[in-house]
Amino acid sequence: MKNKQNQFINPETEKEIDELLSKMTVKEKIGQLHQLGTSPVGGFEISKGEMKKLLEAGRLTQEDYDSWISNEQWDENEELIKAGEIGSFLGRNKDPNFYNHLQRVAVEESRLGIPLIFGNDVIHGHKTIFPIPLAESCTFEDELFELSAEIAAKEAAAEGIHWTFAPMLDIARDARWGRVAESAGEDTYLATRYATAKVKGFQGENVSDTDRIVACAKHFVAYGAAEGGRDYNSVDMSLQKLWNVYLPPFKAACEAGAGTFMSAFNDLNGVPCTANAYLLRTVLREKFGFNGFVVSDAFSIDECVAHGVATDRKVAAELCLNAGVNMDMVVGCYRDHIEELLSEGKISEDTLNEAVREVLRIKYAKGLFEHPYTDVSQGENIWLCDEHRRAALEIAEKSIVLLKNDDKILPLKSDMKIAVVGELADDALEMLGTWVLAGESKDTVSLVDALKSLNIDFVYEPCCGVDKPFDVKAFEAAISGADVVLAAVGELKDMSGEASSLCNIDLHGEQKKMIEALHNSTKPFVTLLFNGRPLAIKDVADISPAVVECWHLGTEAGNAICNVLFGKYNPSGRLTTTFPNYSGECPVYYNHLNTGRPTSEVKHSTKYMDAPLKPLFPFGYGLSYTEYEYDSLSAEIKGDRIEVSVEVKNIGDTSGVETVQFYVQDVVASMARPVRELKEYKKVALESGETATVKAEIPLDNIGYYNERLEYVVEPGEFEIFVGHDSEAQLCTSVFVQG
Ligand code: GLC
Repeated sequence: MKNKQNQFINPETEKEIDELLSKMTVKEKIGQLHQLGTSPVGGFEISKGEMKKLLEAGRLTQEDYDSWISNEQWDENEELIKAGEIGSFLGRNKDPNFYNHLQRVAVEESRLGIPLIFGNDVIHGHKTIFPIPLAESCTFEDELFELSAEIAAKEAAAEGIHWTFAPMLDIARDARWGRVAESAGEDTYLATRYATAKVKGFQGENVSDTDRIVACAKHFVAYGAAEGGRDYNSVDMSLQKLWNVYLPPFKAACEAGAGTFMSAFNDLNGVPCTANAYLLRTVLREKFGFNGFVVSDAFSIDECVAHGVATDRKVAAELCLNAGVNMDMVVGCYRDHIEELLSEGKISEDTLNEAVREVLRIKYAKGLFEHPYTDVSQGENIWLCDEHRRAALEIAEKSIVLLKNDDKILPLKSDMKIAVVGELADDALEMLGTWVLAGESKDTVSLVDALKSLNIDFVYEPCCGVDKPFDVKAFEAAISGADVVLAAVGELKDMSGEASSLCNIDLHGEQKKMIEALHNSTKPFVTLLFNGRPLAIKDVADISPAVVECWHLGTEAGNAICNVLFGKYNPSGRLTTTFPNYSGECPVYYNHLNTGRPTSEVKHSTKYMDAPLKPLFPFGYGLSYTEYEYDSLSAEIKGDRIEVSVEVKNIGDTSGVETVQFYVQDVVASMARPVRELKEYKKVALESGETATVKAEIPLDNIGYYNERLEYVVEPGEFEIFVGHDSEAQLCTSVFVQG
């Protein structure tokens, strides 16, 4: 694919930047590299208590703490903007007039009139909230990945946001890591397509359009491989694993034209990503051809001191600017130390100018010099409009994964007497999921809200929750007259996302007790999971006649769940993360190596003695109200691609959409290769009884790998092709790549 980074290199613009740079003072240059928060508490929407903790931990200077806590900060900030000493704000004030006010100060009252760029976390929607990314990835629909980003961009831009800190492209193989919720799951190929679609959705064909926003590929890189699934922890891996598993989605985002990248908190093999010249200069700029700018993750420049690679904030600033971080997110290390470092020759004028140039390049590309202000009249017509709600409903429906449906208890009939138990069934706020800054529960449809709107005959009894003990009496009373029970269990939205690692990913609280009570009641019931990560729910799934993965689906959650439960939408979601049986199995993922003793019943093989040989639900898994049969698989190499063909038949009695998955295994190579890797997926709609021939072309260039010398190779030999319903598909054939 053509590298769209070239869009940022424009001779006219470069000349204008040269002109600007020649006029800028050192302080004005440093200002372009300094981002400040816009919340009342300064750098972040962090509580004053948390700020106090940061101060006590030595992570904040007393001066910063005082200025952030004080309320006269805004007069001070306006003076700094006028002086050209702030280039960007992390904008969370939700008020376009406020952003326009700050922008007017920059453009009309500062010496050079360089506009500010406002960034914010628009992760899965802005006012209209879409399913968390882990849920949305289960749609396996690139068009929807793009659509939700496009809508989010429109809504955020109408508020005055120019730049989002998304897409998050971390490969997540460990469900203990709470940020798996923000990811596209465990698979590199899917995350690569997700990356391309998201950048296109946020930036469009022309990122200067007023309804588009600059994307930010994050967290660069391998943040999801934090040791033990503990957020912010160390990452240690071979460069082969880095290049084969973790870098491809970021390479795709760069080639799709992402205007910015964000350096990750973690160290990679002992070198913090934020101070890692190999990553930020060699890989990102030299090998990927990146022309935009890099923003540090929050505080991560300062955190080089805690990492133990910098004696103080000044050394941290020197390391990170020289390594290739352009902008300091809200911690002021560049503001405080670059001038001195420059005078001491520890940072060169060229390094500083190049860092500023790349920031200005994106500001020009975003059109901020031509149209710095937001049309404040647009928001009310755009935010949460019907069209956006319809899109949120469609994506939510398609994100739902039917995990179990014994005796076809689903779909339900609308004349059934239904009991709904568990407080997550009526908690709209929790449906929003993690990383929601502008969405509100008042605009969100819970399951109970949706049932009411459908005039279904149901009773609702909270009776149990993550923090709510199981109230047996209320539970028994609620289910007594029901034909079927819906049991809402799972996680609160803040149990996943940042700083939310768990070593126990079972159902928390007494929720399991409620499922056991249902099992003992002999009532037909459906377990509905509301969660932001794979859960270790073997005990619960084993005793539930039906299990539906409802994630945290956002604004239209309740309507989407009802449409699936009552059969208006036949569930088509497929898991993008493996569900373990027990927490102790993490990390667990499908595209593992075979090892010399592959997992089997044989004692001396790789496995746990106290867990099943297979995960609870594999990558790519998901049931439907119908069934599909695969047949007539063929594959042959034609020129530079493998042409694969398979017949898929809908053998059930209702129409449905199947996600046909194509996996490839490099059977023998110079290095051990995964037992299989997803290399294509296609969705096909099939009426009952209908058969379709589904074809795929897999470029030979896509089945190679980075070898011991980090050369990308496609080695001669046998490649097995597996095609089917999920990553355990057995239908296979093979092709031979000639030497
Ligand atoms: C956070 C997150 C990052 C986010 C940034 C700004 O700590 O790690 O994903 O974009 O800070 O909120």
